Amino acid sequence: MNKINKEIQILLVVIFFSLLVYGGVETYAHKVMHKHVDSKNYEYTDLPAITKTGDPVAGAALVTGAAACTGCHGIKSQDMPAPMDAATAVASYGVTPPDLSTAGILYESNFLAALIKDPVATLKLEHKFDDTKMHPMTAFSGAGGDLDQEVADIVAYFKSIAPQEITPKQAYEDACSRCHEMRYMKATQLGDTPTFKFEKDALAYRVKVLEYQDTLKGYMGKLPPDLSTIIVARSNSFLTTFIEDPQSHLKGTSMPRVGLTADATDKVMTHLTHSGDPAKEIRNSLGWKVILFFIIFSVLAYLWKQSVWSKLH
Ligand code: HEC
Ligand code: HEC
Repeated sequence: MNKINKEIQILLVVIFFSLLVYGGVETYAHKVMHKHVDSKNYEYTDLPAITKTGDPVAGAALVTGAAACTGCHGIKSQDMPAPMDAATAVASYGVTPPDLSTAGILYESNFLAALIKDPVATLKLEHKFDDTKMHPMTAFSGAGGDLDQEVADIVAYFKSIAPQEITPKQAYEDACSRCHEMRYMKATQLGDTPTFKFEKDALAYRVKVLEYQDTLKGYMGKLPPDLSTIIVARSNSFLTTFIEDPQSHLKGTSMPRVGLTADATDKVMTHLTHSGDPAKEIRNSLGWKVILFFIIFSVLAYLWKQSVWSKLH
């Protein structure tokens, strides 16, 4: 009886120190090493809210007319291809303007409205662009009517053409892929890498990618990192709050605030997980089974040990 008591005491001591190390020291070290940033729920409350009710038909006319969005952006779902190929676009702007087919579901509405009126402030890039170094997206200053009404119309148009649902890959492509490569997914800033029959064609394509990346590097100040395995390098909370507001973690970074909704952020995270940690879903569903196995195994081991020792004494 005495012996069992002693064993339990030892077990308690081991449990105590394990918990102390894991719950206390690990948590503390993590806190010291990583700045904690709270999410603002993707509401972008620093930006003014839309006050007018938008008219999608009036918006459509502005997008292809006075506001000239389609002078730089494609809207593939409406049969409006990008006005320039990637090489020409990157040479003109430093980066390809993203396709806007999904803009109405990807971006939070107030964000989109503010972006149209003032890209630099909305993207939080005042430290990078000013009147001497202009941002490549021109601000829309109105078509002669009430500016707020016109902007609300444009936003209403994008919402009216947006798909009901968006896949994780599509969300990533439209929001991030113009800047980031994902080699594990065979995707670069130019899109999905085609398969080539001849090596010389594959090499020629790679040269195009490298040329794009060179120009992008000049525009951003550095080449945005490959995101293939970022999901294992960075915590979920870091990534989601970084996407919501890069400046909150990296003051002075040239990555723009992207302005995604909470749902679009989820989609992007799913795509990053799919690339960097494809086994995660299996692991999650396996986790409780493994724990159950260990509990049963421990009980059996204990009983077995009891029976072995009882014969020896
Ligand atoms: C002169 C070219 C030009 C015009 C006109 C233009 N854009 Fe852009 N836009 C760009 C470029 C270039 C980028 C990419 C900038 C970057 O990522 O650094 C961009 C980025 C965007 C983004 C992505 C921003 C984000 O949060 O990541 C959206 C959305 C957008 N534009 C919408 C519009 C809309 C709507 C209009 C019309 C009202 C418009 N743009 C007009 C060039 C333009
Ligand atoms: C206009 C270009 C651009 C777009 C669009 C963009 N990024 Fe970035 N991103 C950058 C640059 C540049 C850096 C490097 C930042 C630095 O070190 O200052 C970066 C860095 C990052 C990092 C690394 C942060 C770290 O310190 O580990 C992550 C993660 C990231 N981006 C995710 C995203 C995601 C997800 C999207 C789409 C929702 C996205 N980015 C869209 C340009 C961009």
